Amino acid sequence: SAATLGGYSDFMAKEIAEQPAAISRLLKDRLGKHGVELDELSMSNDDLAAIDRVYMVACGTSYHVSLIARELVQDWAKIPVFCEYASELNYKEPLVTDHTLCVIITQSGETADTLTAARRMKALGCKVFAITNVLGSSAARESDGTMYIQAGPEVCVASTKAYTAQMVASALLALRLALANGSMDEDEVRGHFASLEQVPGLMEEVISRRWQDKQAARVFRNAKSALFLGRGVNSTTAYEGALKLKEISYLHAEAYPAGEMKHGPIALLEPGFPVVAIVPADHVHDKTVSNIEESIARGATVVAVATDGDERVAKLCENVLWIPPCPEEWIVPLVAVVHLQLLARYVARARGCDVDKPRNLAKSVTVE
Ligand code: G6P
Repeated sequence: SAATLGGYSDFMAKEIAEQPAAISRLLKDRLGKHGVELDELSMSNDDLAAIDRVYMVACGTSYHVSLIARELVQDWAKIPVFCEYASELNYKEPLVTDHTLCVIITQSGETADTLTAARRMKALGCKVFAITNVLGSSAARESDGTMYIQAGPEVCVASTKAYTAQMVASALLALRLALANGSMDEDEVRGHFASLEQVPGLMEEVISRRWQDKQAARVFRNAKSALFLGRGVNSTTAYEGALKLKEISYLHAEAYPAGEMKHGPIALLEPGFPVVAIVPADHVHDKTVSNIEESIARGATVVAVATDGDERVAKLCENVLWIPPCPEEWIVPLVAVVHLQLLARYVARARGCDVDKPRNLAKSVTVE
């Protein structure tokens, strides 16, 4: 069915707003008597328990999903994970074991590099599992198992709802693997699942605060470039925020793990240079606050993404994109990114850009 704007001014706004419902749909009926149900894997519990390595292969925004997924699979299932851009993996030799699972993450299911990688991994004997949005896509047809994120058609070239839904799907996969190999018991799985169930409400709250993003967009009015910083799982949020901004506003943006800024990007800073710092209430908060202070000391204008009640950040930064408290640290990337999507959209609109159809980009890259 063709997607319509339904009252929104562009598909990006609509798709950002659809995220809470997409996540709810994905979580519905997932919790069964064996913990998280993931029958789409079409693998027995024994086969799942035997997996000793995971390759995650994707492009663009979907690749950023894999970076978060890696942390979850490693933390929960204690299985080493390799993340690869499909276009990189295709020109080197993957190190597969007899029990390597290959997970391809692709919204469209038609990205040529990702499909080539999947075929190669299959030829090497790996089971290939697809996380995709499009029913009957090539990725779905060619994989041993497919999990549909059920996010509905994504029209805006820059991916929003597929990013967060794919991340939730990856979290379910990580829980399933952890349960299968005994790294986690059912109670723990249920606990993490309960955290996921809070995501739609947390996202709604961020969407209702979009005036904050509109206001912060002014910081970028005369900017030529911006730096995004985050730590741990939120270094990925920084990468994704920078990608959104450059895709639709044509502003140069680069992202760095906050602790690495002193090894290069700090040289970029000068008065008025915009820095977007993701600094939620987590175990690395103090360290990232130090990076904000270092940036401000060099005249940078810092836009922070911070958790309600953070007075240190409120004192330091004029522009704060506030997120409500999240039940676990790994939930934050799902919530914080909504602000960065909204921010990118407001910056792009202020610069007169077509947010749905950015120049030079395609929704699905079907050539290698
Ligand atoms: C293109 C799109 C991106 C997308 C990437 C991967 O570059 O513009 O938004 O993230 O392809 O697409 P896929 O469909 O494989 O997730």
